[in-house]
Amino acid sequence: MEIGSYLKKQAEFINTKIREHIPSGIPEKLFEAMAYSLMAGGKRIRPILVLESAKALGMENTDSITDIAVACEFVHTYSLIHDDLPAMDDDDLRRGKPTCHVVYGEAIAILSGDGLQSYAFELISSNRTVPPEKLVKVINLLAHGTGIYGMVAGQAADILHEKENSFDDIQFIHTHKTARFIQSCCQIGGVLAGGSEEEVNALGNYGLYIGLAFQIQDDILDEIGDEKKLGKKTRKDREKNKLTYPAVYGIEKSRQVAREYVENAIEQIKILKRPQILQQIAQYIINREV
Ligand code: IPE
Ligand code: IPE
Ligand code: MG
Ligand code: MG
Ligand code: MG
Repeated sequence: MEIGSYLKKQAEFINTKIREHIPSGIPEKLFEAMAYSLMAGGKRIRPILVLESAKALGMENTDSITDIAVACEFVHTYSLIHDDLPAMDDDDLRRGKPTCHVVYGEAIAILSGDGLQSYAFELISSNRTVPPEKLVKVINLLAHGTGIYGMVAGQAADILHEKENSFDDIQFIHTHKTARFIQSCCQIGGVLAGGSEEEVNALGNYGLYIGLAFQIQDDILDEIGDEKKLGKKTRKDREKNKLTYPAVYGIEKSRQVAREYVENAIEQIKILKRPQILQQIAQYIINREV
Protein backbone atom coordinates (compact mmCIF):
# COMPACT_ATOMS: atom_id res chain seq x y z
CA MET A 1 0.00 0.00 0.00
CA GLU A 2 1.22 3.48 -0.86
CA ILE A 3 2.29 5.45 2.26
CA GLY A 4 -0.32 8.21 1.83
CA SER A 5 -3.19 5.70 1.81
CA TYR A 6 -1.62 3.75 4.67
CA LEU A 7 -1.41 6.89 6.81
CA LYS A 8 -5.03 7.79 6.00
CA LYS A 9 -6.12 4.34 7.15
CA GLN A 10 -4.08 4.65 10.34
CA ALA A 11 -5.50 8.13 10.99
CA GLU A 12 -9.02 6.67 10.72
CA PHE A 13 -8.07 4.05 13.28
CA ILE A 14 -6.72 6.74 15.63
CA ASN A 15 -9.95 8.73 15.15
CA THR A 16 -12.00 5.77 16.35
CA LYS A 17 -9.74 5.40 19.39
CA ILE A 18 -9.90 9.14 20.17
CA ARG A 19 -13.70 8.94 20.16
CA GLU A 20 -13.53 6.08 22.67
CA HIS A 21 -11.27 8.09 24.97
CA ILE A 22 -12.93 11.51 25.00
CA PRO A 23 -13.78 12.02 28.67
CA SER A 24 -17.40 12.40 29.75
CA GLY A 25 -19.07 13.70 32.90
CA ILE A 26 -17.46 17.14 32.66
CA PRO A 27 -19.07 20.57 32.12
CA GLU A 28 -20.84 20.53 28.77
CA LYS A 29 -19.08 23.51 27.19
CA LEU A 30 -15.68 22.17 28.16
CA PHE A 31 -16.55 18.77 26.71
CA GLU A 32 -17.87 20.34 23.51
CA ALA A 33 -14.77 22.49 23.02
CA MET A 34 -12.39 19.59 23.64
CA ALA A 35 -14.36 17.26 21.34
CA TYR A 36 -14.67 19.99 18.70
CA SER A 37 -10.92 20.50 18.38
CA LEU A 38 -10.07 16.82 18.74
CA MET A 39 -12.47 15.70 16.04
CA ALA A 40 -11.89 18.57 13.59
CA GLY A 41 -9.44 16.39 11.64
CA GLY A 42 -5.68 16.38 11.54
CA LYS A 43 -3.11 13.95 10.22
CA ARG A 44 -2.66 12.14 13.56
CA ILE A 45 1.02 11.80 12.76
CA ARG A 46 2.18 11.79 16.40
CA PRO A 47 0.01 8.87 17.60
CA ILE A 48 0.81 7.05 14.35
CA LEU A 49 4.52 7.51 15.11
CA VAL A 50 4.06 6.05 18.59
CA LEU A 51 2.47 2.91 17.12
CA GLU A 52 4.77 2.62 14.11
CA SER A 53 7.87 3.04 16.27
CA ALA A 54 6.70 0.13 18.42
CA LYS A 55 5.99 -1.93 15.30
CA ALA A 56 9.41 -1.10 13.88
CA LEU A 57 10.89 -2.95 16.86
CA GLY A 58 8.75 -5.99 16.12
CA MET A 59 5.74 -5.37 18.39
CA GLU A 60 2.95 -7.25 16.61
CA ASN A 61 -0.07 -6.30 18.69
CA THR A 62 -0.29 -2.65 19.77
CA ASP A 63 -3.79 -2.83 21.34
CA SER A 64 -2.41 -2.30 24.86
CA ILE A 65 -0.73 0.98 23.92
CA THR A 66 -3.31 2.74 21.72
CA ASP A 67 -4.51 4.81 24.71
CA ILE A 68 -0.97 6.16 25.04
CA ALA A 69 -0.86 7.05 21.34
CA VAL A 70 -4.24 8.80 21.77
CA ALA A 71 -2.87 10.72 24.78
CA CYS A 72 -0.10 12.11 22.56
CA GLU A 73 -2.73 13.45 20.15
CA PHE A 74 -4.57 15.03 23.11
CA VAL A 75 -1.38 16.91 24.00
CA HIS A 76 -0.88 17.93 20.37
CA THR A 77 -4.47 19.21 20.10
CA TYR A 78 -3.97 21.23 23.30
CA SER A 79 -0.87 22.77 21.73
CA LEU A 80 -2.79 23.78 18.61
CA ILE A 81 -5.65 25.35 20.58
CA HIS A 82 -3.20 27.45 22.58
CA ASP A 83 -1.02 28.23 19.52
CA ASP A 84 -4.05 29.77 17.79
CA LEU A 85 -5.07 32.04 20.69
CA PRO A 86 -5.05 35.83 20.13
CA ALA A 87 -2.12 36.17 22.55
CA MET A 88 -0.12 33.65 20.50
CA ASP A 89 -0.56 33.35 16.69
CA ASP A 90 -4.07 34.79 16.65
CA ASP A 91 -5.43 32.42 14.01
CA ASP A 92 -9.08 31.84 13.25
CA LEU A 93 -8.90 28.74 11.04
CA ARG A 94 -7.58 25.33 12.05
CA ARG A 95 -8.16 21.90 10.55
CA GLY A 96 -10.61 23.51 8.15
CA LYS A 97 -12.80 24.96 10.89
CA PRO A 98 -12.99 28.14 12.99
CA THR A 99 -10.48 27.85 15.83
CA CYS A 100 -11.56 26.77 19.31
CA HIS A 101 -11.45 30.29 20.79
CA VAL A 102 -13.49 31.70 17.90
CA VAL A 103 -16.29 29.22 18.62
CA TYR A 104 -16.11 28.86 22.40
CA GLY A 105 -14.34 32.01 23.57
CA GLU A 106 -10.83 32.43 24.89
CA ALA A 107 -11.44 31.28 28.45
CA ILE A 108 -12.97 27.95 27.41
CA ALA A 109 -10.31 27.48 24.72
CA ILE A 110 -7.53 27.96 27.29
CA LEU A 111 -9.25 25.61 29.70
CA SER A 112 -9.94 22.96 27.09
CA GLY A 113 -6.22 23.00 26.19
CA ASP A 114 -5.32 22.70 29.87
CA GLY A 115 -7.85 19.89 30.24
CA LEU A 116 -6.57 17.96 27.23
CA GLN A 117 -3.04 18.14 28.54
CA SER A 118 -3.71 16.96 32.06
CA TYR A 119 -6.19 14.33 30.87
CA ALA A 120 -3.49 12.94 28.57
CA PHE A 121 -1.31 12.21 31.59
CA GLU A 122 -4.29 10.80 33.47
CA LEU A 123 -4.97 8.45 30.55
CA ILE A 124 -1.38 7.22 30.39
CA SER A 125 -1.10 6.66 34.12
CA SER A 126 -4.42 4.76 34.09
CA ASN A 127 -3.14 2.11 31.67
CA ARG A 128 -3.26 -1.22 33.54
CA THR A 129 -1.53 -3.40 30.95
CA VAL A 130 1.85 -1.74 30.53
CA PRO A 131 4.22 -2.24 33.52
CA PRO A 132 4.39 0.87 35.78
CA GLU A 133 8.15 1.39 35.22
CA LYS A 134 7.51 1.76 31.50
CA LEU A 135 4.60 4.14 32.10
CA VAL A 136 6.80 6.38 34.25
CA LYS A 137 9.37 6.47 31.44
CA VAL A 138 6.63 7.33 28.92
CA ILE A 139 5.27 10.13 31.12
CA ASN A 140 8.77 11.50 31.56
CA LEU A 141 9.43 11.49 27.80
CA LEU A 142 6.12 13.14 26.96
CA ALA A 143 6.52 15.84 29.62
CA HIS A 144 10.12 16.46 28.56
CA GLY A 145 9.30 16.80 24.84
CA THR A 146 6.30 19.06 25.32
CA GLY A 147 7.23 21.09 28.40
CA ILE A 148 9.88 23.61 29.36
CA TYR A 149 12.67 21.61 27.70
CA GLY A 150 10.64 21.15 24.53
CA MET A 151 7.52 22.61 22.98
CA VAL A 152 6.80 25.23 25.64
CA ALA A 153 10.37 26.56 25.36
CA GLY A 154 10.08 26.61 21.57
CA GLN A 155 6.72 28.38 21.62
CA ALA A 156 8.14 31.00 23.99
CA ALA A 157 11.14 31.53 21.69
CA ASP A 158 8.81 31.71 18.68
CA ILE A 159 6.89 34.53 20.33
CA LEU A 160 9.93 36.34 21.78
CA HIS A 161 12.40 35.88 18.91
CA GLU A 162 14.77 38.64 17.98
CA LYS A 163 15.61 38.80 14.30
CA GLU A 164 19.30 39.66 14.74
CA ASN A 165 20.21 36.13 15.68
CA SER A 166 18.12 34.46 12.97
CA PHE A 167 20.22 31.35 12.24
CA ASP A 168 20.61 30.19 15.83
CA ASP A 169 17.11 31.27 16.77
CA ILE A 170 15.31 29.41 14.01
CA GLN A 171 17.16 26.22 14.91
CA PHE A 172 16.26 26.61 18.58
CA ILE A 173 12.63 27.32 17.75
CA HIS A 174 12.19 24.37 15.38
CA THR A 175 14.02 21.92 17.61
CA HIS A 176 11.99 22.86 20.66
CA LYS A 177 8.51 23.74 19.45
CA THR A 178 8.11 20.78 17.10
CA ALA A 179 10.98 18.29 16.87
CA ARG A 180 11.30 17.34 20.53
CA PHE A 181 7.65 16.31 20.83
CA ILE A 182 7.89 14.21 17.68
CA GLN A 183 11.12 12.74 19.03
CA SER A 184 9.32 11.82 22.27
CA CYS A 185 6.54 10.06 20.35
CA CYS A 186 9.10 7.83 18.61
CA GLN A 187 10.98 7.12 21.85
CA ILE A 188 7.69 6.34 23.62
CA GLY A 189 6.84 3.72 20.98
CA GLY A 190 10.32 2.28 21.40
CA VAL A 191 10.08 2.07 25.19
CA LEU A 192 6.63 0.49 25.02
CA ALA A 193 7.92 -2.17 22.62
CA GLY A 194 10.68 -3.02 25.10
CA GLY A 195 13.46 -1.64 22.88
CA SER A 196 17.12 -1.66 23.89
CA GLU A 197 18.84 1.64 24.71
CA GLU A 198 20.42 1.59 21.25
CA GLU A 199 17.06 1.07 19.55
CA VAL A 200 15.27 3.78 21.55
CA ASN A 201 18.14 6.18 20.84
CA ALA A 202 17.95 5.40 17.13
CA LEU A 203 14.22 6.12 17.21
CA GLY A 204 14.90 9.34 19.12
CA ASN A 205 17.43 10.52 16.53
CA TYR A 206 15.04 9.60 13.75
CA GLY A 207 12.25 11.54 15.51
CA LEU A 208 14.38 14.63 15.98
CA TYR A 209 15.38 14.70 12.29
CA ILE A 210 11.88 14.14 10.95
CA GLY A 211 10.57 16.68 13.46
CA LEU A 212 12.95 19.31 12.09
CA ALA A 213 11.95 18.41 8.52
CA PHE A 214 8.29 18.51 9.57
CA GLN A 215 8.49 22.10 10.80
CA ILE A 216 10.46 23.24 7.73
CA GLN A 217 7.71 21.76 5.55
CA ASP A 218 5.08 23.47 7.75
CA ASP A 219 6.86 26.79 7.19
CA ILE A 220 7.11 26.13 3.43
CA LEU A 221 3.42 25.24 3.22
CA ASP A 222 2.55 28.43 5.08
CA GLU A 223 4.36 30.29 2.32
CA ILE A 224 3.26 28.40 -0.80
CA GLY A 225 0.63 25.85 0.29
CA ASP A 226 -3.03 25.60 -0.57
CA GLU A 227 -5.23 27.07 2.16
CA LYS A 228 -8.18 24.78 1.33
CA LYS A 229 -6.12 21.60 1.51
CA LEU A 230 -4.25 22.71 4.63
CA GLY A 231 -7.36 23.82 6.50
CA LYS A 232 -5.44 26.76 7.96
CA LYS A 233 -4.62 30.22 6.71
CA THR A 234 -1.48 30.58 4.60
CA ARG A 235 0.97 33.48 4.28
CA LYS A 236 0.27 34.22 7.95
CA ASP A 237 3.90 33.82 9.07
CA ARG A 238 5.10 36.41 6.57
CA GLU A 239 2.32 38.82 7.61
CA LYS A 240 3.31 38.47 11.25
CA ASN A 241 6.99 38.75 10.48
CA LYS A 242 7.58 35.30 11.99
CA LEU A 243 11.00 33.75 12.04
CA THR A 244 10.59 30.81 9.63
CA TYR A 245 12.92 28.68 7.54
CA PRO A 246 11.86 30.25 4.22
CA ALA A 247 12.30 33.73 5.76
CA VAL A 248 15.88 32.91 6.75
CA TYR A 249 17.02 30.57 3.96
CA GLY A 250 14.51 30.96 1.12
CA ILE A 251 12.30 28.14 -0.20
CA GLU A 252 14.87 26.18 -2.21
CA LYS A 253 17.50 26.03 0.51
CA SER A 254 14.78 25.17 3.04
CA ARG A 255 13.72 22.23 0.87
CA GLN A 256 17.28 21.06 0.59
CA VAL A 257 17.86 21.15 4.35
CA ALA A 258 14.61 19.25 4.92
CA ARG A 259 15.73 16.58 2.42
CA GLU A 260 19.03 16.21 4.27
CA TYR A 261 17.23 15.78 7.58
CA VAL A 262 15.06 13.07 6.05
CA GLU A 263 18.10 11.24 4.67
CA ASN A 264 19.69 11.35 8.12
CA ALA A 265 16.47 10.13 9.72
CA ILE A 266 16.31 7.16 7.34
CA GLU A 267 19.93 6.31 8.07
CA GLN A 268 19.44 6.37 11.87
CA ILE A 269 16.90 3.54 11.94
CA LYS A 270 18.62 1.10 9.60
CA ILE A 271 19.51 -1.00 12.67
CA LEU A 272 15.84 -1.64 13.54
CA LYS A 273 13.97 -4.86 12.72
CA ARG A 274 11.36 -3.24 10.49
CA PRO A 275 12.32 0.31 9.59
CA GLN A 276 10.47 0.50 6.24
CA ILE A 277 7.23 2.24 7.26
CA LEU A 278 9.07 4.80 9.38
CA GLN A 279 11.42 5.45 6.47
CA GLN A 280 8.45 6.03 4.19
CA ILE A 281 6.87 8.34 6.77
CA ALA A 282 10.09 10.39 6.75
CA GLN A 283 9.78 10.82 2.97
CA TYR A 284 6.08 11.62 3.23
CA ILE A 285 6.79 14.43 5.69
CA ILE A 286 8.59 16.53 3.09
CA ASN A 287 6.35 15.55 0.19
CA ARG A 288 3.08 16.31 1.98
CA GLU A 289 0.77 19.11 0.86
CA VAL A 290 -1.23 18.99 4.11
C1 IPE B 1 0.77 21.61 13.15
O1 IPE B 1 0.88 20.23 13.34
C2 IPE B 1 1.64 22.29 14.14
C3 IPE B 1 3.07 22.01 13.99
C4 IPE B 1 3.80 21.58 14.95
C5 IPE B 1 3.71 22.27 12.70
P1 IPE B 1 0.26 19.19 12.31
O2 IPE B 1 0.66 19.56 10.91
O3 IPE B 1 0.62 17.82 12.74
O4 IPE B 1 -1.31 19.45 12.45
P2 IPE B 1 -2.53 18.45 12.31
O5 IPE B 1 -2.59 17.66 13.56
O6 IPE B 1 -2.29 17.58 11.10
O7 IPE B 1 -3.73 19.34 12.16
C1 IPE C 1 3.89 24.98 15.55
O1 IPE C 1 4.15 26.12 14.81
C2 IPE C 1 3.17 25.29 16.80
C3 IPE C 1 3.04 24.27 17.83
C4 IPE C 1 4.01 23.74 18.48
C5 IPE C 1 1.69 23.94 18.23
P1 IPE C 1 3.10 26.95 13.97
O2 IPE C 1 2.51 28.06 14.73
O3 IPE C 1 3.78 27.29 12.69
O4 IPE C 1 1.94 25.90 13.63
P2 IPE C 1 0.70 26.23 12.69
O5 IPE C 1 1.26 26.64 11.34
O6 IPE C 1 -0.09 27.31 13.34
O7 IPE C 1 -0.02 24.92 12.60
MG1 MG D 1 2.93 29.23 16.38
MG1 MG E 1 0.48 28.80 14.54
MG1 MG F 1 3.09 27.04 10.74
